[in-house]
Amino acid sequence: MKNSVVTFQEMKAKGEKITMLTAYDYSTAKLVDAAGINSILVGDSLGNVVLGYENTVSVTMEDMIHHGAAVARGAKDALVVIDMPFMSYQTSTYDAVVNAGRLMKEGHGGAVKLEGGVEFAEVIRAITRASIPVCAHIGLTPQSVHAFGGYKVQGKTYDAAKKLLEDAYAVQDAGAFAVVLECVPAKLAELVTKELRIPTIGIGAGAGTDGQVLVYADMLALFSDYKPKFVKQFANLSEEVVSAFKAYDEEVKSGVYPAQEHTYKIDDEVIEALKKEL
Ligand code: KIV
Repeated sequence: MKNSVVTFQEMKAKGEKITMLTAYDYSTAKLVDAAGINSILVGDSLGNVVLGYENTVSVTMEDMIHHGAAVARGAKDALVVIDMPFMSYQTSTYDAVVNAGRLMKEGHGGAVKLEGGVEFAEVIRAITRASIPVCAHIGLTPQSVHAFGGYKVQGKTYDAAKKLLEDAYAVQDAGAFAVVLECVPAKLAELVTKELRIPTIGIGAGAGTDGQVLVYADMLALFSDYKPKFVKQFANLSEEVVSAFKAYDEEVKSGVYPAQEHTYKIDDEVIEALKKEL
């Protein structure tokens, strides 16, 4: 069944948990979709996981469109949400609407996601006015890593927790259909979830949110540069992949691969006739 922003609303109303995983290419999107995950996030974590950057700041609109369109081709039922990259919505409301439109028209997303609360409410309002569904993202917002001075848990003090609640209300009032809560204490995330009409999708925010999102390469242990505390590795594919690559290396070098069954045939007469001409 095709998931949409309406599915998110219905699932919150019924108390059903929403699942979201990232993907950055066609083949992975097909696998995530086949597993019945409700939504695929083409996250700008693409910068870390696929492009090898230290953070998400360098990711461009062209990167997001290129990977977003590949994911959209592989996702049959999952709602595809494409991240707005750094500086694609911070410069002006006009830029934000134009760039959100490109992610829908050229990236073929079903929604966009952007980082920020109260300060970006006007931008969210303008994009939703253009009939583009927006998922907000508050708490730890990785595009602000330089302003935060690192990746830290957010909302721990009274003032910070109050600001997080204000951000949550602001993005809801501006028309966001959902909000990602990243790296916030579980009890605060639970409180925000109870207060909001729109679904909350947690990452490092405990079990009390309406849904969960993870970077697919983290939960499969394919990405090994670092592992945040909140990541559970549901498989260790790094080990399996490296051992398969080693087996290939050994079999090619020892002549075991390719075998007869991997080989195309030709009539001996054709080869003999060719040889006579040499
Ligand atoms: O870019 C991303 O993958 C994200 C998730 C961590 C929520 O924004």
